[in-house]
Amino acid sequence: TNPKTVEINGSKYATDSWFNVSSTVLALTSRKLHLQKDHPVAITRKIIESVFPAPTYKYYNEFDPVVSTFENFDSLGFPPDHPGRARSDTYYINKDTLLRTHTSAHEAELFRASASGGYLLSADVYRRDEVDRSHYPVFHQMEGARVWDRTKVPNGDLAAAILADLARLPEHNMKVEDPNPPFHAERNPLQADHHTPAEAAAVAAHLKRSLELMVNEIFSRAKAAAAAAAAAATTSPSTKNGPPAQTEPEPLRVRWVEAYFPFTSPSWELEVFYQGDWLEVLGCGVSQQALHIHAGVPSQMGWAFGIGLERIAMLLFQIPDIRLFWSRDERFLSQFRGVEGRLEGMRPFVPFSKHPACYKDVSFWLSRGGEGGTGTRTGTRGVVDWHGNDLMEVVRDVAGDCVEDVRLVDDFAHPKTGRRSMCYRINYRSLDKTLTNVETNEMHDRVVKGLVERLGVEIR
Ligand code: PHE
Repeated sequence: TNPKTVEINGSKYATDSWFNVSSTVLALTSRKLHLQKDHPVAITRKIIESVFPAPTYKYYNEFDPVVSTFENFDSLGFPPDHPGRARSDTYYINKDTLLRTHTSAHEAELFRASASGGYLLSADVYRRDEVDRSHYPVFHQMEGARVWDRTKVPNGDLAAAILADLARLPEHNMKVEDPNPPFHAERNPLQADHHTPAEAAAVAAHLKRSLELMVNEIFSRAKAAAAAAAAAATTSPSTKNGPPAQTEPEPLRVRWVEAYFPFTSPSWELEVFYQGDWLEVLGCGVSQQALHIHAGVPSQMGWAFGIGLERIAMLLFQIPDIRLFWSRDERFLSQFRGVEGRLEGMRPFVPFSKHPACYKDVSFWLSRGGEGGTGTRTGTRGVVDWHGNDLMEVVRDVAGDCVEDVRLVDDFAHPKTGRRSMCYRINYRSLDKTLTNVETNEMHDRVVKGLVERLGVEIR
């Protein structure tokens, strides 16, 4: 039933038995929300770009989402058995070609293009995942990097050159916690074959200040927008006492947490304390020298980070559901119009009426193997390997944006036969209309039918 070829942004690709991209997801490859004028994803991109000025940083926004397995995984040092490569997690066109799962897929190419400077690349990325208000199979990432070339700095003194660039960055008044030692012997060693401790420390310091400045820009805007909206809601239009007293905003609290990525060492995540919680905002680190070497620029070293734009846009504009970004509804789009030119006027999104939720359960036995459809693989003991993401994909494909979330509510094995039974609860709730009973039942019936046909389950 799979098409022999698919066309994505004007190019044709041959499929094979690895193909697992639904037509719904294929249709989203041309949307490019990060380039859509006045779209909150594009506004967020521009706010971040403003912290990394040209000409030091170059901006790339038109990279095609179809990349090779090599670019997305191998070139970045992902081991052959890494779970991210699984067909349950990644959209494949064919065995060697996929929809990029992250913007890091373009690191080698952009390191080669960056003599001594940096870049920001914003693009759509694709992951098979759960269905809920913060996950969508397509979202947008921005990848940033800065490199220095040993052969192009005075006396070849890389550490001194990087520290000189660091000294040119603005100061900030944030409260930064950085409790862990910079290196971890196994997880995050110094790349001692390539970097001196002074060079690695200089790159790390430049990375940290640059990214602190970025989150400061984002979160001070988010706070200001929220405060302005709160003030507008509480003060009456005819205040006799004049404008409210300006209070000095609290400095932002952030912390650096040790992390692991195959293509950076050492690596960190940056967390921000916002509205009472620590939020993980981005991943970053000192780039693996192997990447610069394989890209043909061995005299470079530098840092890289990756950030999800929807998560940031949801905070900036208080957008409660990730499906809204894909909406063509004027009640959504009109709220961001004109914000690009005057960010001071930024206001949180005002949700339009929330339509009722409708929960429907589906309970089934897993097939015993062999009889499943395209989404299932038979494991070593003749039992089907079950991947929740395959079910999520069927639900998304059939019911699209009418589903708000899907939760596993029961999972047990029959005590005698060992056969596995599961129950999932699907919440049908449209963003723009009240679904009728008839509509919801009809949609649920089609979901159930899809599960039987494509995953080979037996309805209980
Ligand atoms: N690509 C990583 C992710 O998607 C983020 C990252 C980018 C981490 C660059 C380090 C350096 O999670």
